[in-house]
Amino acid sequence: MANLKGKDILHANQFSKKDIEAIIKVASNFERELKKKDSLTLLKGKILATLFYEPSTRTRLSFETAMQRLGGGVISMGSVESSSVAKGETLTDTVRTVSQYADVIVIRHPRTGSAREAADAVPIPIINAGDGTGQHPTQALLDIYTIKKELGSLKNLTISMVGDLKNGRTVHALAELLSLFDTRLYFVSPSSLRMPEEIINHLKQKGIEIEETEDMLKAGNTSNLIYMTRIQKERFTDLSEYEKLKGSYIINEEFLKKLKKKITILHPLPRVDEISTDVDDYPGAAYFRQMRNGVFVRMALLSMIFGKR
Ligand code: NCD
Repeated sequence: MANLKGKDILHANQFSKKDIEAIIKVASNFERELKKKDSLTLLKGKILATLFYEPSTRTRLSFETAMQRLGGGVISMGSVESSSVAKGETLTDTVRTVSQYADVIVIRHPRTGSAREAADAVPIPIINAGDGTGQHPTQALLDIYTIKKELGSLKNLTISMVGDLKNGRTVHALAELLSLFDTRLYFVSPSSLRMPEEIINHLKQKGIEIEETEDMLKAGNTSNLIYMTRIQKERFTDLSEYEKLKGSYIINEEFLKKLKKKITILHPLPRVDEISTDVDDYPGAAYFRQMRNGVFVRMALLSMIFGKR
């Protein structure tokens, strides 16, 4: 069993294949338990704090749901404008403060490396819910859980990651996790939004087969799954560049008709225009199921951090 007790969750690379298999198992047990009961008492008396310096819907609310379903309590800093961050308080001082109230902190911040800074400042576990263009490890774990559930296995898969591979922290984290399962990867993006070289080199060192292309149809035709991403507008310094690139890749009915076979489609959400709503009823469109899985996986992580599973 993976030993996450008292640990921070900062980067996808901290997990072994065994850890991931253990997390999947615990998450699927919670999924089953929640069919019988609305909530459990495993983390009664524990408090989770959410500190979000960037917008979020799913990540924050699914962490809060997970904690409450486990019987724990939740406090939240609310918006940056309504907290002392607006008065100029540093991240370290805010985290030190919150660590006096809560037993675990979930943090999202625009600066890459911020979660690690927070973890270095306090003794309680820190969970990285997105540090700039860096990492988003809990999203990657729920993505892996979803892939296993949708496709039945993590063995022998070919997966296309499409969109903003340069700035997308979800794909940075997911590619690292998939490399533990010998997945073949297609990286499909405009040339200016390619997967960072550092990540590609690391994956290649691990012996992973990678192909970079701008052709989504070609990649899709030989893949089991497309992982679609949003062009990350907030990371562009030149908005005219964003305007040029938005709409580079769109999955719609027409695209699905051109595909030779049925495919599974994931997206961390929110989507802008990269998946048309006419795709939502397609049987392989799994992005709404994917976001529900976030609750089970985050329940697993929280219970394991507190040594209760
Ligand atoms: C992602 C994120 O914040 O990185 N969203 C999420 O957590 N589900 C993806 C995105 O914002 O495009």
